[in-house]
Amino acid sequence: MAKNIYLIGGGKGGVGKSLVSMATVDFLLQRDEDLVLVDADTSNPDVWKTYKDTARTELLDLDNADGWIELINVADSNQESVIVINTAARNNKSVNAYGQILSNTLPELRRKLVTLWVINRQRDSLELLKEYMDAIPDTVVHVVRNGYFGEERKFELYNSSKRRALIEERGGLSLTFPDLADRVSDDIYSKRMNIALAAKELPLGNRAELCRWRAEVKSMLEQIGHE
Ligand SMILES: Nc1ncnc2c1ncn2[C@@H]1O[C@H](COP(=O)(O)OP(=O)(O)OP(=O)(O)O)[C@@H](O)[C@H]1O
Ligand SMILES: [Mg+2]
Repeated sequence: MAKNIYLIGGGKGGVGKSLVSMATVDFLLQRDEDLVLVDADTSNPDVWKTYKDTARTELLDLDNADGWIELINVADSNQESVIVINTAARNNKSVNAYGQILSNTLPELRRKLVTLWVINRQRDSLELLKEYMDAIPDTVVHVVRNGYFGEERKFELYNSSKRRALIEERGGLSLTFPDLADRVSDDIYSKRMNIALAAKELPLGNRAELCRWRAEVKSMLEQIGHE
């Protein structure tokens, strides 16, 4: 098998897709994985801006078929690289409409599509997840409860849902993404500093918090099989 394609979705604005994408890129780079980051948020490409100098990156508009064709060609011509896709809230409809194009080529690409679906505590996160899973049935979906919105037990809507049972039945995991202190996430966002650089250059207190968070991210992402 060639390397995985990780799609970071969530359908909604502001649930933490970009931070989960950055954390995933950081995790893979620490494992010396070759990767291509695809930022589909062409109007606010925050992940692309943060990683354009340290990783191979592509900015692709997945709101039209062209972007998906290009994505498949990138995946095909970089067989040795993991692909990480950060989606935008506005891509929601097009992911559902065109995602099948990608899905259909997975056997030929010899790649697995692994989805990290980032949720907050509201119902629409789950409704959008259902639409996504109906549109793209052949992907493993791991749900990422973003700890920014509260502790794990506060996600009771998801925790007690049928959707959760279905996710886990299909081999997906229910994960919890750690909350990072605001002043440190602000450093990353406002200075467009990538996580590894921030871990070297921020003041000691900020670095200590980042280091704690990074270790938690690592143990979260290690739960997913990366083969
Ligand atoms: N786990 C977290 N710890 C700290 N801050 C977080 C966390 N998750 C999200 N945030 C904050 O919430 C805001 C939105 O997060 P992010 O940009 O990752 O969301 P998004 O889903 O990519 O949004 P958009 O749909 O606009 O692209 C950011 O300012 C970020 O700092
Ligand atoms: Mg984003």
